[in-house]
This record gives sequence, structure tokens and C-alpha cells, in this order.
Amino acid sequence: MSHAELLARHRKVLPSWLTLYYEQPIELVDGKGCRVVDGEGNTYLDFFAGILTTMLGYNLPEVVEAVRDQAGRMVHSSTLYLIRQQVELAERIAALSGIPDAKVFFTSSGTEANEAALLLATTARRSNQVLALRNSYHGRSFAAMGVTGNRGWLASSLTPVNVRHVQGGYRYRSPFRDLPDDRYIRACVDDLREVLETTTAGDVACMIAEPIQGVGGFATPPDGLFGAMKEVLDQYGILFVADEVQTGWGRTGEHFWGYQAHGIVPDAITFAKGLGNGLAIGGVAARADLMDAVTANSISTFGGNPLAARGALAVLDYLQEQDLQANARRVGGRLAAGLRDLGARHPLVGDVRGKGLMLGVELVEAGTMTPNPAAAARVQEATRRGGLLVGKGGLYGNVLRIAPPLTLTEAEADEGLAILASALAAADTG
Ligand SMILES: Cc1ncc(COP(=O)(O)O)c(C=O)c1O
Repeated sequence: MSHAELLARHRKVLPSWLTLYYEQPIELVDGKGCRVVDGEGNTYLDFFAGILTTMLGYNLPEVVEAVRDQAGRMVHSSTLYLIRQQVELAERIAALSGIPDAKVFFTSSGTEANEAALLLATTARRSNQVLALRNSYHGRSFAAMGVTGNRGWLASSLTPVNVRHVQGGYRYRSPFRDLPDDRYIRACVDDLREVLETTTAGDVACMIAEPIQGVGGFATPPDGLFGAMKEVLDQYGILFVADEVQTGWGRTGEHFWGYQAHGIVPDAITFAKGLGNGLAIGGVAARADLMDAVTANSISTFGGNPLAARGALAVLDYLQEQDLQANARRVGGRLAAGLRDLGARHPLVGDVRGKGLMLGVELVEAGTMTPNPAAAARVQEATRRGGLLVGKGGLYGNVLRIAPPLTLTEAEADEGLAILASALAAADTG
């Protein structure tokens, strides 16, 4: 069946708000490594990896075999029974988390992971007040939407948490953007203190933040920002939750978790996406006293079931054995240099940012800071025609998001850069 026919059927039975990429949306039916094949036989280099989720690339034998083996034994038993794979995975993640004495609760998505973290913090602190960052994205449930700071993803204003949004994540469009790092950080910390003192009613439960804002266009604050903010939070006993759904597992190259660029240890981290390489698994890792603060029964039926947990263990084995964090740093550095070079040559490029294999290119009207979503759409279409899939995002839909599998080679990085270069050149004149 052609893409056009499938699209017509999709439109009839799936929600209108389920956004599809491209004027003529495509189906991805096969893949190997960093390449995917669509339903009409076209091959692409994939620089978006199913929204940073197919972290090791497609059809990796080490993961496929583990999943196949587990599928033939026990897919699901529920957490009413001991799950060896889940215990092993929790032990691995607790040790990796950097949080002393950590416990882990598994979910099926990043949204539920953040829900769980907010449950822990609001219960432990006996407060429903929460701080979040402007331009953030934390998921699609009512609490996760409540802490989201991006109009485009706020389908409802209903929220169980009482939220204040502070400055800091999106430097390019911040009122403090012209300040050097140290003064930018100080301005954000002053804003945080003022928000606390003027807009909150006593005890706040936690602050939740993405170390690099994913949906927000890979907006990257200066290193140390969250460390400086946490000094203020600590004065008030406010917990810090790092949403590592996009930044975890070594994607930023320099660290295993995004929070590590800020010289702090969070009280809880949330994760999802890459861990299952496409299997539905997420979770929260938190200090044991915080995790155990919940006073009623609570389960996630699918969270960390034998199939997802076994797959995730195989993912972690491969990730660590191959030291893909180092690969993200090395190949990401090469990609970033190439993108910065393109940025210097194209007036449509307002900002190039990110770390490791999480790189954003913000497009503007030439010579201004005005967001240029039309150019982003044109470049995205042109890259597809050239055989490259890239993501798009940002508050105004004007940021190209580049986040390939962590297994990307230097040759593939160069190949993708060449396609991006042609697409940008066409957009300049378009
Ligand atoms: C930082 C962040 N947190 C949470 C989520 C929600 O995850 P999920 O879509 O798995 O519910 C996302 C999804 O894009 C995300 O980027």
C-alpha cells in the first residue's frame, strides 16, 4: 500500500492532533544500524531515531536476540510476582544513577515516570507546589502538562500541581541572553529566588528540569546553572528532579546523565526513551527515603515487565561494552563542528547548540532573531528528499533537532552533514 493510501486511513481513525512529519508522511518499515527504509522502498540515514529512542540503531542482533528469547518464555507476569530482569535492571540503574541509596520504579513511558517523580516529591514534602522551567516539556498527563512550559503542547490547563515557571533553560530567547555565563546564571538564580518569595505559598515540593530541553529545541543552558539554582532550593528544602528522558544514557557525550554538567546530585531522575531501544520502558530513580514516602499501593501494570526489562538490560550491556558515550562525544563533536561551520555560512541559522549527539539548529529570518518555522519545514523536506531524517521542534517549530543513534559513525555523520548542507543552501534561496 502506498503512503498516500495509508495516510487517508490514518486520518480517518487516528486523532487530528497526532502530528505527522512531512507534507507527504512516510511509514518506516525496516532498518539496520542508523538507516531505515520506508514503505515505498526509499532508504534514509536516520538522525532522529524515533525521537531519540532507537538509541542503539535498528535491528541490533544483541538486543533482538534477547527480546526474541524472552518473548518465547515470559512476556508479562505483573509486579505481583518477582521479576528477575526487573530487579537486575533496577540494580544497574540505581548504581548508574549517581544517587546514593537509590531505588527504582519502572513505568511504560516518560510521562508516567514524571508523574511518579511528582508523586514522590509532593507526598514527601506534603505540598503540591512545584517549580519548572519555561520552554520545558515533561509529557502529556495532567501533572506532566502542568509542569510543561510550551504552549504548543498544553492541550489543557487542568493540573493537579500548582506550578511556577522560572527562567533559564532557553538562553537564546532569554531576557538575559546577552550576559556572559556567570552573570546569566546569577540572573536566573535571582529570578528563582524572586519567584519563590513572591509567587509561592510556603513550602514548595520540588523543581523539575530537563538538563537540555528536548522538545524545546535542544535548548542548552550554561553548565553549572542547576548547581547554582540548587543552592537556593537547598535553603528551602526543595527537592530537585532531573528529567533525563532525552539527555540520559550518555547521549550528551561528556556525561552519562545531563545533570552531571551542573555539579549536583538530584533527589530523583526520570528516564525513558533510549533505555528500551524502542521497547516501552521508563522510570524514576530516587533516594530510598523519597521512593518509600508513598503511603498507598501504586503499580504500573506494564512497567518493567520481563520483556521490556530484558531488552533494556541488553541495551545497557551493549551501551557500556561499546562505550557509546565516548562515541557520542567523538562523533557528536565532529557533527557539531560541521553544523557550526554551516551556521557561519548560512544567514538562516541563528543558533547551533547542544552536546554530544543532541544538537539543535535554530532557524531565523536572515539577519534577525525572528523564528523561521517555514525555513525549518523546507529544510526538513529537503533533507528527506536527500535521504536524511531530522527532527523539528522548539517553541516556534523553527529548530532542527539532530539526535541520531549513539552508534553513528564518523562517515555517517559526514554523509548527513553533506545532505544538510545542500538542504540549507536550497532553503537560503527558497
Ligand atoms: C524530556 C521529556 N520528558 C518526558 C517526555 C514524555 O515521555 P513519553 O512520551 O514517553 O511519555 C518526553 C517526550 O518527548 C520528553 O522529551
